Amino acid sequence: MRTLILYSSTDGHTIKICQFLQKIIERQGDEISLISVERESDIDLQDYDRVIIGASIRYGKHSPLIVDFINNNAAMLDTLPNAFFSVNLVARKPEKRAPDTNPYLKILLKQISWKPMQLAVFAGKLDYPRYKFRDRLMIRLIMWMTGGPTDRNAVVEFTDWKQVEGFGRLVSQMKQSPTAST
Ligand SMILES: Cc1cc2nc3c(=O)[nH]c(=O)nc-3n(C[C@H](O)[C@H](O)[C@H](O)COP(=O)(O)O)c2cc1C
Repeated sequence: MRTLILYSSTDGHTIKICQFLQKIIERQGDEISLISVERESDIDLQDYDRVIIGASIRYGKHSPLIVDFINNNAAMLDTLPNAFFSVNLVARKPEKRAPDTNPYLKILLKQISWKPMQLAVFAGKLDYPRYKFRDRLMIRLIMWMTGGPTDRNAVVEFTDWKQVEGFGRLVSQMKQSPTAST
């Protein structure tokens, strides 16, 4: 099967998660295209048998490019086995890591008509040294307010890789188009 993994990532952590998923899916001999949403004009969904979309959160939002891609391709997405995952720091708290408890995923699902067959929320990476001054200040303030790390040198990967692995196994099993199963 040919799988498209489409992503939006600012600092590369969502790409790392996508590459991890890619390895799991490739184990069964499937072909993967890992493509940034910035290159969405190169994509023809008809070329694929399965689609996974992943996007990180920046200041409360998924990239508008991802939202637009989903809205412009909702009908086609529904014809393929499909999945979506969100990456954010709120999800470092296990009680905010489920599709129905993560505020960003809940908002996204209201903005789009597509109903992904599989959903996941992964905790992201905190990397203060990498951030620009203003971003570091803002994220430290948010972390201070929510009980997270505030040391300006902190680099913490909160991602639960076992959770990502479980999701990878699940999506690599998706073979039938949702319309074909109804
Ligand atoms: C400028 C900036 C703003 C962010 N805003 C949020 C936010 O509003 N909520 C949240 O949970 N995480 C927020 N994050 C955390 C990112 O979602 C997290 O670091 C994620 O791993 C980034 O993935 P990426 O490297 O693929 O973009 C923010 C990170 C940065 C750098």
